[in-house]
Amino acid sequence: MSTILARMKRPLSGLKHLVRHAMVALAYRLHGVGILSLVAARRLVRLTERHTIDTSSDRFVMELPGLQRRIRQELLRQRREYDSYAYFHGYPYQALAILDVFGERGTEERFDAYDLARLIGRDDYVLDIGCNCGFMALYAAFRTGCRADGIDINPHMIRIGQHCTEFLRLQDRVHLMAQPFQDFAPGQPYTVVLSFATHWTDDRNYRVRLQDHLLRIHGMMVDGGLLVFESHSTDVGNPQFYAALEEMRAHFTWEGPRPMARSTRELYLMRRIAA
Ligand SMILES: C[S@@+](CC[C@H](N)C(=O)[O-])C[C@H]1O[C@@H](n2cnc3c(N)ncnc32)[C@H](O)[C@@H]1O
Repeated sequence: MSTILARMKRPLSGLKHLVRHAMVALAYRLHGVGILSLVAARRLVRLTERHTIDTSSDRFVMELPGLQRRIRQELLRQRREYDSYAYFHGYPYQALAILDVFGERGTEERFDAYDLARLIGRDDYVLDIGCNCGFMALYAAFRTGCRADGIDINPHMIRIGQHCTEFLRLQDRVHLMAQPFQDFAPGQPYTVVLSFATHWTDDRNYRVRLQDHLLRIHGMMVDGGLLVFESHSTDVGNPQFYAALEEMRAHFTWEGPRPMARSTRELYLMRRIAA
């Protein structure tokens, strides 16, 4: 009986995936139409207020279609050339509302929910591991004035992040690099490290023990530095995950986790203890 049920479930979950895929593709199209509407509205404002608006500097809406075109081209290149992207139906895992970039998880919303404006200051030097488009690093620099590096194995997501960095003219403070975290050797220790949903990855390009992941990060931080660590949803309630974390008590201090994303994930604020 259970085998019959399992067989019936398989085509159903395939169908669910197809429907979701179609809905996300539709959302992406609607999003594109939304940007064209923004530009049309701005054109009307420019027309009525042409005695005050300097059209040479009025670029934040008018240049959005160009940015979207570069992102679209990068997503097409990714589809052709990169076979291990496993997130959000081929679209960015991260969204960035300030530049109208389409994606799954809202950067600004997470930045506020994780209280990062209070935790990061302009003197900080931030590393974002497995940063996807690097929007969290970019937005941290935008909001707080800090310097930030982001690394991700996927060159296409990194290029999307670089286009956005250039759009915001933050290249002097934000550096996004396409490389595996396993090979990363920073020139300088960081005061803040972000490890969000990335201590192992769905695309299987990063599978290490949680303890080894945290020890590597420990080696890249200043004493007293802050690690902001977000779990996966499958970690929540998993005794092995908590046992592995407990082994790190000699290297980091932290208090209980904060539930996030409607309690499907946990956030840990961990302070580095001197080696
Ligand atoms: C679930 S996403 C998390 C993205 C981001 N940290 C966030 O929470 O918004 C995992 C990311 O890890 C990246 N990744 C996978 N293996 C990696 C590796 N070995 N080194 C660096 N990044 C990797 C993927 O390309 C993907 O962008």
